[in-house]
Amino acid sequence: MGILDGRVIIVTGGAKGIGLAYCRGLAAEGATVVVADLSDGGEVVAELESTGAKAMSLQVDVSDVAQTEAMAAAAVDAYGRIDGLVNNAAFYMAATRAPMEDLPPDEWDLCFKVNVKGTWLCARAVAPTMRAQGSGRIVNIASMTVNDGTPGFLHYVSSKSAIWGLTRAMARELGGSGIAVNTITPDYIPHDEAYSSVQPEVDVAIQARRAFKRSQVPEDMVGTLIYLMSPLSDFVTGQNIWVNGGSGFH
Ligand SMILES: NC(=O)c1ccc[n+]([C@@H]2O[C@H](COP(=O)([O-])OP(=O)(O)OC[C@H]3O[C@@H](n4cnc5c(N)ncnc54)[C@H](O)[C@@H]3O)[C@@H](O)[C@H]2O)c1
Repeated sequence: MGILDGRVIIVTGGAKGIGLAYCRGLAAEGATVVVADLSDGGEVVAELESTGAKAMSLQVDVSDVAQTEAMAAAAVDAYGRIDGLVNNAAFYMAATRAPMEDLPPDEWDLCFKVNVKGTWLCARAVAPTMRAQGSGRIVNIASMTVNDGTPGFLHYVSSKSAIWGLTRAMARELGGSGIAVNTITPDYIPHDEAYSSVQPEVDVAIQARRAFKRSQVPEDMVGTLIYLMSPLSDFVTGQNIWVNGGSGFH
């Protein structure tokens, strides 16, 4: 028995990284997990099924209207309902790190298309089902770079700051239908070599200013997500929970 028994939850960008940790954590609490990613999530599904969980994989570009609508339809076809959506997919590691004058303008558009429009499109796709159920949970993922004003990738920081506002407005729009919308804001999580090899000094500096002086790992995010997907947070909406080991407060 888990606290999410019977809940069907879509995790975008669930095939790797922090999204994979979300999939594992949700499944361990009894949720049926839909792994929605540009990449094939078949291996994740096999792993979750080997633990006795129910799961399916869908190849989806979250910035494509038709693909997000097909994602919601496939989840309903398979399981009859959608209880949760985790808007985790993002254009992040591939983002150019450069002074603002040097950012490629086309990349700015791509960043907003995936991170902001994609978040809206996925929520838009699941909203009719959640409204019909009179319940649902949408969790959007932001970044501590918004609070920190981290220089060097203005397009990414700006796109994640949009998530804070989008969550609030969406919470008011969907609250009348019993749908909660919240943000989780993670700090820097260097979960594979790509992160530590690009900027090892970034993690060292962030650890130094944290109350908890260690590196943040994907599993640090999972408890807050489970809480926001569970009955424990039934009266929580429009909120922004910072999970950062005390690197900043609000
Ligand atoms: N890792 C960090 O330091 C950090 C810090 C703060 C916030 N975040 C946020 O956490 C989330 C996960 O980050 P991560 O480090 O695990 O990222 P990641 O790059 O390791 O994984 C992202 C996943 O999203 C998928 N994806 C990318 N574009 C997609 C699209 N258009 N449609 C569907 N899937 C797509 C990728 O295939 C990949 O599986 C992101 O929203 C990111 O912005 C990460």
